[in-house]
Amino acid sequence: MKDTASDVDSRFEKPAYDSVSKIISTDLGWLHIRGPVSAGTLSDYHFSEGLSCFRPPKRQQQALIEHSKEPDGIVFTAALANNIITYVSFQKPDFPWWIKRCFPRLLELGSVETDLSWRKMGLSKTLFDTIFKDPDFKYFEDFITIAVHTIYSWDLKNTCLSPWDYRKYMLKLFGQYGFVPWETEDPEIREHPCNILLARIGTNLEQKDVRHFANCCLGVN
Ligand SMILES: CC(C)(COP(=O)(O)OP(=O)(O)OC[C@H]1O[C@@H](n2cnc3c(N)ncnc32)[C@H](O)[C@@H]1OP(=O)(O)O)[C@@H](O)C(=O)NCCC(=O)NCCS
Repeated sequence: MKDTASDVDSRFEKPAYDSVSKIISTDLGWLHIRGPVSAGTLSDYHFSEGLSCFRPPKRQQQALIEHSKEPDGIVFTAALANNIITYVSFQKPDFPWWIKRCFPRLLELGSVETDLSWRKMGLSKTLFDTIFKDPDFKYFEDFITIAVHTIYSWDLKNTCLSPWDYRKYMLKLFGQYGFVPWETEDPEIREHPCNILLARIGTNLEQKDVRHFANCCLGVN
């Protein structure tokens, strides 16, 4: 999560804090899905110890706090009582290929993580359902949201999945929310055959935006 503030399009607007706030009854208890969360809200929560895939939990919480202060930093959380167990973050693109080709309708899903001891319980799906499928929250329909998947961002160690199986897992999980693979010349993606660029085209996009995006993928723009 780098400081992209100076690159942010001046017309870019994050959704208002807590535009999503839902308390959902689950087998695990009452799950509070909310976001974008403010830095203050993120600091008030306890950040679960098993959220350690990208950084040690305390540092990851701090990184998300800083991220949520950025003009383009968006964080959604799922919490049981005062304990965050899943989160997902978004921003204007952060990868070199996409920083160069950024355009107003482009967003990037930065990271999604569920606490190691709470995985495979439907938490990320509950969070994604609320962000991408709730008819009351249409923010992402105005954007092309990319997710740059490289083997380095995957938890191969704890899942014991091969890179090919992790790839399949990501295609299936993200596919349920409209993310599909795009061919790209991005060297970071082309570095490993399992890496994939996924993109979700919001329903409010015009054909010219999609064409522009396709050209960016191929490096024509
Ligand atoms: C990816 C991740 C966020 C998924 O979170 P989760 O809360 O465990 O996911 P869910 O329980 O909602 O499961 C979603 C689906 O994936 C499947 N799934 C979960 N873990 C799986 C695994 N290890 N292997 C295969 N499928 C798996 C579930 O069965 C479910 O399938 P369904 O749609 O058929 O019901 C979590 O595995 C994680 O934190 N991984 C490490 C970080 C990461 O890889 N992030 C993605 C790249 S940024």
